[in-house]
Amino acid sequence: MLALATRIAQAGHGAIKEALSVLAAGGLVAFPTETVYGLGADATNDSAVANLYAAKERPSFNPLIAHVADLAAARRLARFDAVALRLAGAFWPGPLTLVLPRLDLCPVGQLATAGLDTIAVRVPGHAVARDILLAFGKPVVAPSANRSGRVSPTSAEHVYADLAGRIDLIVDAGAAPLGVESTILACIGRTTLLRPGAIPRAVIERFLGGEIATAAMADVAAGDEERPISPGMLASHYAPRALLRMNAVTVAPGDALLAFGPVLPPDAGKARTILNLSDGGDVVEAAANLFNYLRILDSSGASSIAVMPIPETELGEAINDRLRHAAAPRHNAARPGAAG
Ligand code: TXA
Ligand code: MG
Repeated sequence: MLALATRIAQAGHGAIKEALSVLAAGGLVAFPTETVYGLGADATNDSAVANLYAAKERPSFNPLIAHVADLAAARRLARFDAVALRLAGAFWPGPLTLVLPRLDLCPVGQLATAGLDTIAVRVPGHAVARDILLAFGKPVVAPSANRSGRVSPTSAEHVYADLAGRIDLIVDAGAAPLGVESTILACIGRTTLLRPGAIPRAVIERFLGGEIATAAMADVAAGDEERPISPGMLASHYAPRALLRMNAVTVAPGDALLAFGPVLPPDAGKARTILNLSDGGDVVEAAANLFNYLRILDSSGASSIAVMPIPETELGEAINDRLRHAAAPRHNAARPGAAG
């Protein structure tokens, strides 16, 4: 791959204009969403999409989310049933991704959807993302703007650290406010949670008035590696370099400690570094800090990161899901970053 001069532009009128010309030319631009930074390409341009997979080192069987400005644009890509329409009405713009049957006339290329007959669609709520999507007028595929297998970026600096020289532009609007990726629901027949995310399961269940099914990780793990249910849910994902130990109640010498809440383990003093996701034990604050703190601890030189227990309630489900992926054995060490 040819090295590109990656520019960082502060969000504003000029940066949006620059982003639009990069997209129109088939280039790659990272931009903020309310969840994490995404790496955008024109979804209808197969060579742009191919370059995006290459920049991320993402296996091309792992499909991308098409981002659009509003429901009307989303309905040109996918078939919405009554439940999907209600969900879109309630949660868009916002951190919800819907996996739906792809329309025959869908302009998004087969490469972007990895040849599946479904497509993931999202209408982000971040003002910068919205400005770009509205003005561009075509769907933009945008996976998290990290190198495949690394933790998702919540700042322009994170994007630069992973992708400098591989992409054209980063639009910098400071920290991504939510810090975990969108919740992914499949609405194909029944409603199934494919990825816990920034909208807690309980909020969606309350809205729909009933429990939603979950695509069991066991099924994904046992499934065909080439075509897992939500292909990005391959076991080892969001992987820091250090080993990660969840639900830690003690600290080993040399550990970095990722703490949660006001009460630290009695032997916390053994930790070489401590960062607290939320001193007050607030899962929303913890989600916003998660990926940044994982990056900081990972680059601190610690060989292991001990993570204190985090409740499974509300955003805790998404946080624990990401931590489980980060803690999973690297089954594909020879091929770093098989997901992403
Ligand atoms: O918050 C987010 O969703 C961020 C921001 C940038 O929008 N994007 C993001 O994209 O997290 P990515 O590519 O890192 O994760 C998308 C996930 C992957 O696990 C992928 O396998 C899954 O969505 N996915 C995409 N299309 C799918 C489909 N048709 N069926 C099932 N899963 C799909
Ligand atoms: Mg990702």
